[in-house]
Amino acid sequence: PGHLISAADLSRDEAVLILDTAEEMARVADRPIKKLPTLRGRTVVNLFFEDSTRTRISFEAAAKRLSADVINFSAKGSSVSKGESLKDTALTLEAMGADAVVIRHGASGAPYRLATSGWIDGVVVNAGDGTHEHPTQALLDAFTLRRRLVGADAGIGRDLDGRRVTIVGDVLHSRVARSNVLLLHTLGAHVTVVAPPTLVPIGVERWPCEVSYDLDRVLPESDAVMMLRVQRERMNAAFFPTEREYSRRYGLNGERMGRMPGKSIVMHPGPMNRGMEITAEVADSDRCTAVEQVANGVSIRMAVLYLLLGGNEPAVTHSRLNAE
Ligand code: CP
Repeated sequence: PGHLISAADLSRDEAVLILDTAEEMARVADRPIKKLPTLRGRTVVNLFFEDSTRTRISFEAAAKRLSADVINFSAKGSSVSKGESLKDTALTLEAMGADAVVIRHGASGAPYRLATSGWIDGVVVNAGDGTHEHPTQALLDAFTLRRRLVGADAGIGRDLDGRRVTIVGDVLHSRVARSNVLLLHTLGAHVTVVAPPTLVPIGVERWPCEVSYDLDRVLPESDAVMMLRVQRERMNAAFFPTEREYSRRYGLNGERMGRMPGKSIVMHPGPMNRGMEITAEVADSDRCTAVEQVANGVSIRMAVLYLLLGGNEPAVTHSRLNAE
């Protein structure tokens, strides 16, 4: 079966197909009965070894809206705390007949290991692995960008050609940044990452983006600015400027937002550190899409599960969706 491990797995046409399918799924969410029978009888396991609010809940909502059976597994409170390995956990899920395993893990590469191990037959979806990747976050961000910068209807079949997206902050620890750089580049956007020199990953020169250390220079040229969470739990104190220095140079406040072009947007994957990378004034402004991104995440995850498990061609997908 196909898996979704990295944003780099997706061609431009595959990514656009997921975005288009998510638009169809969003229409289902607007109906009085928000359910499709498409994955009836299939089992989706949410296997979360790291904390999550948005990703876990939205995968659960997405699977349920497609009528799949959902099993939620959290490492806390499971036999993982007794030392059970990923392999034995996976074999247990396989015995329960999992058709898809959505995995979040602290170790970069854990979803790839699961997908290539032969321990399970189902499809594997990476819901965030260490500092490596978070491909469905990048897809929901691309979906939000396309809706806001191109339009929901006008965007169908289209990519983000020429749109300018700036990703700001703790790039070193950010799987969201890596997946977004890869996917947005595939979709034709021009991406700039801005970070303190100590929070830029080694090898960034091989990423398909520009690197800047000057947020104020880049802001007036940005159609969208994506603020990253400062990941204190992964931080070595030596990497980090003082909190005051960080917010002064790399935080987004109302005055800085005022330098962005009129229709540009502010994005944040959540959870936010209000007062650190983003002020409450910006987070609560009309230009901030953080809550919209969460809602769009359900549509994207429905599209991903549908395309990976449903196995239908796009035309069948759309006509079936319209008929049901
Ligand atoms: N954006 C994101 O992945 O949030 P959670 O950690 O709450 O899932």
